Amino acid sequence: MWFFIVAVIFFLYDAVVIPILFRRKFGKYPNVFVRPSFMLFLGDYHQALKDESTNRIYYQHVREEAKLRNNYDMKVDIEGKVPILNLISDRALKEYINLSPTKIDKLRWIKGSLKLEVGSLAQEKTNSKTIKRRKHLSNLLGLNSASKYIPEMLGCSEKFLQQMKAKGRVQFLDGMVALTFYIFSCILFGRDVKLIMNKKYPYENEEGQIEEVEILEYFPRMGRAFLEEFVNPITGLMPIISDLNLINPYKRNQRNFQTYTRALKDMLAHSKDDQSIWSQLKTKEDYTEDEIIADLQLYLFAGGETGSHSLVSVFYFLKKFPDSYAKLKKELNDHGIHKGADFNKVLTIDKLNELEYLSCVVKEALRFDPPFPQGYFYTAKEDITLCDVPIPKGTIMKHDYLSGHFNEKSYLRPMEFIPDRFNPESEFYQESVKSGVSPEPYSKREFGMGPRKCPGQSFGIMQAKLIVAYFAANMDYEVDSELLANDCVGFGMGGKFMPYFTIA
Ligand code: HEM
Repeated sequence: MWFFIVAVIFFLYDAVVIPILFRRKFGKYPNVFVRPSFMLFLGDYHQALKDESTNRIYYQHVREEAKLRNNYDMKVDIEGKVPILNLISDRALKEYINLSPTKIDKLRWIKGSLKLEVGSLAQEKTNSKTIKRRKHLSNLLGLNSASKYIPEMLGCSEKFLQQMKAKGRVQFLDGMVALTFYIFSCILFGRDVKLIMNKKYPYENEEGQIEEVEILEYFPRMGRAFLEEFVNPITGLMPIISDLNLINPYKRNQRNFQTYTRALKDMLAHSKDDQSIWSQLKTKEDYTEDEIIADLQLYLFAGGETGSHSLVSVFYFLKKFPDSYAKLKKELNDHGIHKGADFNKVLTIDKLNELEYLSCVVKEALRFDPPFPQGYFYTAKEDITLCDVPIPKGTIMKHDYLSGHFNEKSYLRPMEFIPDRFNPESEFYQESVKSGVSPEPYSKREFGMGPRKCPGQSFGIMQAKLIVAYFAANMDYEVDSELLANDCVGFGMGGKFMPYFTIA
């Protein structure tokens, strides 16, 4: 009985008193934005759920509120019951970088999709070992080394496009997740893993039934289930349930994850390719095998999921804005990139670097709809001051990617999809400059910033440009009309839109 009463008091203190005090404490600073209304237990999930119930992407309210927040440095978010200080202004991010990693560092927090990163570098504090692990990745996937994978990527793209054409109407996000997973598996584990891609593994579905599923289908389904777990209000409200996987979907997801890890180990056992990243990492002295496997798992998720979500955004917005699509097709055509071309000759790394408008389309899709809108958790390692606001040790922080991308001081007409905003030669760019609007280094945030920013940036951009060029040249497609007519669509991780495309 007493135990029950103490537990209830603790829960109420944690879920009610702490968030209220946090809002009060930071709300008194004029440069900290605190949303006027706040729903106990749900916190800001309330806004996300409201968006979803009105058929908008769960972060549409953040895009729209960006205008309101132009004059603030930080904002208070309550994720379920967890209070978070979100850094929104360029100044706040600049100061964060100066204090990082000595006074602000990553917070190890395993929830939702972050459970797929256990033991990997992404869940470690910044130290000499994490820095080395990041460096290995940047060296192996930097532009110079990564361009050797272009023929492999083209081969995979051709295979997947043919399969999608044969099906006609497809759920394009799952298709793109499978494609990027396939590409990454070949690069990380070796080309020989293709031999076991058809092997089936038991996947426990939402009804509790076991389905035998190929790894290429397994990964998107499991990834989506973990992303849903991340935004599930119970995860924020009662973290213990998620931490200990006490009920479904947590329990089920964990079982599927164990099967998936077994599948990855099968792949590694088959990998004899000495060019694979797995083989190359094994030669590094400062790595244990478990660390390498955890990092490979991270790269597969971090690279595969972000890459696929950004590809869906590109093709969705190109269809929605046909002028941009026509301009891109013209650029590709002018460079010999069209149906029937010898793509191994016309899609080289040098060619990709010449394609200015393609680059602008990818940049604009990443601005308008960043694939990783939530970002990682950070924490103050000691008492600090940021933008003149005292912040106690232990305060949880995040970087707000969306506010910066929709800030009217950095982007002219930010709610519109305009690739030319990134081309200094374009009329739109000149118009922006004349209006006194131009992006600052801190207003492009899709890859994060500071010592823990994304180490896969060059690879991610190269892969996106290559696949967009190949698909745009070879694919005719229609997007379901209802989805196309909706102005509040997004495909960032954790979103619920199912993009059905008809492909010919
Ligand atoms: C369009 C593609 C991509 C986007 C938009 C993206 C975005 C991001 C973002 C926002 C972060 C968090 C940065 C921060 O906390 O400041 C991140 C971290 C990370 N990304 Fe990417 N990413 C992409 C592709 C990739 C690729 C291809 C890889 C490589 C396999 C990769 C590997 C990682 C890793 C390992 C981290 C964690 C870094 C650390 O903790 O030190 N990403 N990414």
